[in-house]
Amino acid sequence: MTATKGLEGIVATTSSISSIIDGVLTYRGFDIDDLAENATFEEVAYLLWYGKLPNRSELAQLVKDLNQYAAVPSQVIDQIRTYPKDTNSMAALRTAVSSLALYDEEANDMSPESNLRKAIKLQAQIPTIIAAFARIREGKEPIAPKQSESVAENFLYMLIGKDPDKVAIEALDKALVLHADHELNASTFAARVTVATLSDIYSGVTSAIGALKGPLHGGANEAVMAMLEDIGTFENAESYVNAKLANKEKIMGFGHRVYKNGDPRAKHLQKMSEQLGKITGNMNWYNMSIKIEEIVTGQKGLKPNVDFYSASVYTSLEIPRDLFTPIFAVSRASGWTAHILEQFENNRLIRPRAEYTGLSNQKYTPIDNR
Ligand code: ACO
Repeated sequence: MTATKGLEGIVATTSSISSIIDGVLTYRGFDIDDLAENATFEEVAYLLWYGKLPNRSELAQLVKDLNQYAAVPSQVIDQIRTYPKDTNSMAALRTAVSSLALYDEEANDMSPESNLRKAIKLQAQIPTIIAAFARIREGKEPIAPKQSESVAENFLYMLIGKDPDKVAIEALDKALVLHADHELNASTFAARVTVATLSDIYSGVTSAIGALKGPLHGGANEAVMAMLEDIGTFENAESYVNAKLANKEKIMGFGHRVYKNGDPRAKHLQKMSEQLGKITGNMNWYNMSIKIEEIVTGQKGLKPNVDFYSASVYTSLEIPRDLFTPIFAVSRASGWTAHILEQFENNRLIRPRAEYTGLSNQKYTPIDNR
């Protein structure tokens, strides 16, 4: 048995949800470019769960369900009040999502209908949890979700406490479309491994959030912003990045396990970053990002991934840096749950092997003789 480190290139399952073929990302056969230009996040979530785009009444029903489920049990909000104020936001989300299961009477119902309902509930409640956490830690009262046409609008409303403007809603909605699913990425794989034991959907999504938290995965968007803030000005960008590269340090937001010729999502986020910079009158983050891209691509041949321009997009929307990865979770909840439902449909325990590299022929010695 020979190990493949990082399971690179290993095909671990079949799936009909999303594909990455020759650098082209599709959800259910629809090119991400087409969806990013034309679809709303709710349409995309429906597409991932049901395998087809919704008609008007199907979409209206989904929006109704999302609104109906968006409120989070008061016990979960009360628990969030007890979290330390400086808790990592992904750790807070992971804990709160796990505790949602305690207050859902159908948490352990494994019927397909119940699991689909819980997928929609999770999609509806994750934004509410993040907004509540963000307000509570600032000493503010959480804001209850309102009846809304969109997850993006409701999230921004609960976060800032007033109706968000149209530009912000549209930008966030597009970011949610772009992050919704991505084949067998680390967090989706974690979700599938968990539920393949026939554990429940809440356990699967909790595992996924834990995996997304890491800086080599979803956590990279925060790390990009930390880097931009560290650089501070356009003039500093070149020397900062050159020093990092000379030091063999990674530049966050570049490179990808699957895309070697560029992440197809990045160009949409780059465009949004530029547009939002113009609207807000602050092109600093965008200009700095372009300069960094020029250097990293020029020297290393590495292209920006989805996280690189998300950082300046979310900053232009005045979203605090440590909520970037939780927002990724808002979007990817749709993909995670679609994959969990698919795993349940045709389940087999996921249990690979390890190539043993440890000692052998060891003999037990009594503790006093060691
Ligand atoms: N900056 C500088 N060098 C890099 C970077 C980077 N961001 N990414 C890869 N490289 C270099 C590596 O140092 C390595 O060089 P070497 O062969 O001289 O040692 C080579 O490119 C291959 O890189 P690996 O890390 O082995 O590639 P892998 O497929 O394991 O990693 C990963 C992919 C984890 C995304 C990597 O590119 C990385 O760490 N990027 C920065 C973090 C990041 O942006 N993550 C978000 C990914 S997208 C997402 O999850 C949503």
